[in-house]
Amino acid sequence: MNAAKEKTEYQKPKRLQGVQPTLIRRIFERALPDSINFGLGEPDLPTPQFIRAEAARVTLEEQNGYTNHAGLPALREKIAASYPHLDLQLNQVCVTVGSQEAMTAAFLAIVDEGDEVLIPNPSFPAYENCVKISEGVPVFYRLPADKDFGFDIEEFKSKITSKTKAAVVISPSNPTGKIFTQSDLEQIADALKDTGIYLISDEIYSDLYFTDEKPHSASEFYDKTIIVSGLSKSLSMTGWRVGWLASSQTDVVKAALTLHGFLAVCTSTISQKAALLGWTQEAEKAKAEARKIYKRRGEFLINLLQDELGLRGTSPEGAFYTMLDVRELGDDLEVAEMLLQNRVITVPGIAFGDEAKGFLRISFCNDEEKIREGVKRMKETLNSQQLSVNKLVTDNC
Ligand SMILES: Cc1ncc(COP(=O)(O)O)c(C=O)c1O
Repeated sequence: MNAAKEKTEYQKPKRLQGVQPTLIRRIFERALPDSINFGLGEPDLPTPQFIRAEAARVTLEEQNGYTNHAGLPALREKIAASYPHLDLQLNQVCVTVGSQEAMTAAFLAIVDEGDEVLIPNPSFPAYENCVKISEGVPVFYRLPADKDFGFDIEEFKSKITSKTKAAVVISPSNPTGKIFTQSDLEQIADALKDTGIYLISDEIYSDLYFTDEKPHSASEFYDKTIIVSGLSKSLSMTGWRVGWLASSQTDVVKAALTLHGFLAVCTSTISQKAALLGWTQEAEKAKAEARKIYKRRGEFLINLLQDELGLRGTSPEGAFYTMLDVRELGDDLEVAEMLLQNRVITVPGIAFGDEAKGFLRISFCNDEEKIREGVKRMKETLNSQQLSVNKLVTDNC
């Protein structure tokens, strides 16, 4: 009887043990109605009209069967041409279901049981989970809070061992908005030279930069780079699920493509056809406009946080996040919980790694009016005498 019961009980396979929905999701799911959302990293700007119109047209006028597993050749050509320094062929690009699928496929294609993977701390929580799914071992390199989460080559080098199989870079970064400079990437390339270690470069925010020049891709400096990117953030197309994996490492792309065939078959054909317009002049205009809007909002938010709360947020160089230093107020989980109860969603820094403990990630995917209202609620919360940090139910999140 017991043996039979044991057989019917679900046992998580080893590769899924320790893999959990992120703290970001768990916080968001507990938000009160009418909350101001400084939490999620999703553009609030509308998907450009010309892309929507094209999707409507192809839906009505065309038969939309499967595409090649790797994606429409015309779309792969455009993606390949985005990295002229690599001179990519079509078999070196795979269109995926958002950059998230590209990322998961990249880890599964590279990492074997027991392999170590270097991950920035703080960074997007998916990396750690992808390493675990691949049965690898996450090893964190710190982006020191006291250097505004900038890159530190000595710290990076100190984590490389004979077991290191891959390293992750993300620029501009989620959660810090920091960009890896050319010099940072050259130093990484130098440190990895002749080691055989792969670099997974998350470039999903590469079109959302506030510097004079577009951020460099790690692939400009290091051959064994696997680029994961997509249109979700730059053209407000999160729900369209268009991403890609691109690399001069043909064997890795081939392995990821095989996985992609079994995971997804192909990305939505309608989304792929509409995405072809992501490389037009109109699209470049929309991306430039988004950069302008996010830059303006970021400055507005940081000034308001300083003026109204007396708290310092890091100056983002790209993406749409600032890291707000709340160390003087106490534990970041507790502060985030207090704000959540007053209808402001933020993400405690600890969600991204212990280096960000004492910070909140505040996203500015909100217009100025919402930002103003959110900061007003934050001020009320922090001034409130009724809410005592001791009463907070932080273990629920
Ligand atoms: C750093 C980072 N990489 C990848 C993704 C996944 O984006 P998508 O799958 O929509 O391309 C996100 C989404 O929030 C992200 O922040």
